[in-house]
Amino acid sequence: MSVNRSVNFTGLRFENPFLLSSAPPTESESNILRAFEAGWGGVVTKTIGLHPVVNVVGAKAKFMRTSPEDASVSMRKRPGAALHSSWNWELISDKTIEWWLPRIRRIKEAFPDRILIASIMAGSGNDKELQNWQRLARDCQDAGADGLELNFSCPHMDRRDMGSNIGRDEGLCSVVTEAVKEVASVPVWCKLTPATAQIEVEAGACFRGGADAIVSSNTFPSIPLIDPETLEFEINVDGYVSSGGLGGPAILPLSLAKMGQMTRAFPDRSFSGIGGISDFSQALSYILLGCGTVQVCTSAMLDQAVGPGVIKRLLAGLDAFLERHAGRGWTAVEDFRGLRRDRIVSQSDIRRPDAADYHSGYEAAEGYAPPTAVERQ
Ligand SMILES: Cc1cc2nc3c(=O)[nH]c(=O)nc-3n(C[C@H](O)[C@H](O)[C@H](O)COP(=O)(O)O)c2cc1C
Repeated sequence: MSVNRSVNFTGLRFENPFLLSSAPPTESESNILRAFEAGWGGVVTKTIGLHPVVNVVGAKAKFMRTSPEDASVSMRKRPGAALHSSWNWELISDKTIEWWLPRIRRIKEAFPDRILIASIMAGSGNDKELQNWQRLARDCQDAGADGLELNFSCPHMDRRDMGSNIGRDEGLCSVVTEAVKEVASVPVWCKLTPATAQIEVEAGACFRGGADAIVSSNTFPSIPLIDPETLEFEINVDGYVSSGGLGGPAILPLSLAKMGQMTRAFPDRSFSGIGGISDFSQALSYILLGCGTVQVCTSAMLDQAVGPGVIKRLLAGLDAFLERHAGRGWTAVEDFRGLRRDRIVSQSDIRRPDAADYHSGYEAAEGYAPPTAVERQ
């Protein structure tokens, strides 16, 4: 049986379901062209805005690693350490919309069959800002973007009316989505912040505004660790730090939980999963929860900036998975998408052991102290 990697997501045909997310891997024309050459099914551009952007002095992103020797989590590079997470306080693209438009045009001319989604961001709370969203949407789609991703999720914008501050506000999510939908001729995705208790509430608001898909997660609000020797934050400017975003392996289970909340609430809607993906097994978790595409940032940043090795592994993993399950009649992602969505239930619905088996006799479960002699009687 032949393997079919392609997916149809929000009316767009992707050669495969693996996308580079909006971040440094998609910040330039040359990166995006290299990404398509490497085999990514789509890219979401680094977020484009209309307001001037000036990043902090020094490093905008770093990586935390952990090692079995000391179990410490640190940005210090040491041999044998495994990736724990990325940490960044990078703002949206510092390039103007005028810089981006001819590049979007040229990329689409070079790769007409690959999908380019323009990530955009403006403010909120007044008509002028809603018009800014509409201008960004019109300009990007006129330049050839196949879709729009509304950034309601950057955790560290220097303006209060932007980014995750929109994603935390049900009303703003609806109003901004609706404003963009009024002018959009291409699908509109909303990228939500995970920094909210009930993300399905904001997802519902975006769908009410007309969103075609929800994307999650952006990075989780976090601060760098303090070096025990110098007593300084591992990233700082003049000794100072502000809240930034955590990505990579550390957020995989957290992001899956957010995704599960949304796909259960809206089983018939479209979702794109992000967070901690570096190989197919991780992408599979998102697909089994109901996602139709997945996106990658941190692992691609560490693999020649655009992840040629990562996309190779993802494609090989998908092919091998479909071949392994050919006997079940699975020939495409759609055949197993959402298969485990309904296995997430309330704690109270999980079966309890018979009283005699409680704590498995004398075998202490990992993380629990063994029963004392008195308890055993
Ligand atoms: C340095 C850096 C810059 C980022 N910039 C953006 C951005 O401009 N817009 C956006 O929507 N997400 C941005 N992100 C978030 C990523 O697209 C992605 O949602 C997040 O890193 C989680 O995926 P990962 O675990 O694969 O890294 C950025 C992430 C990093 C590390």
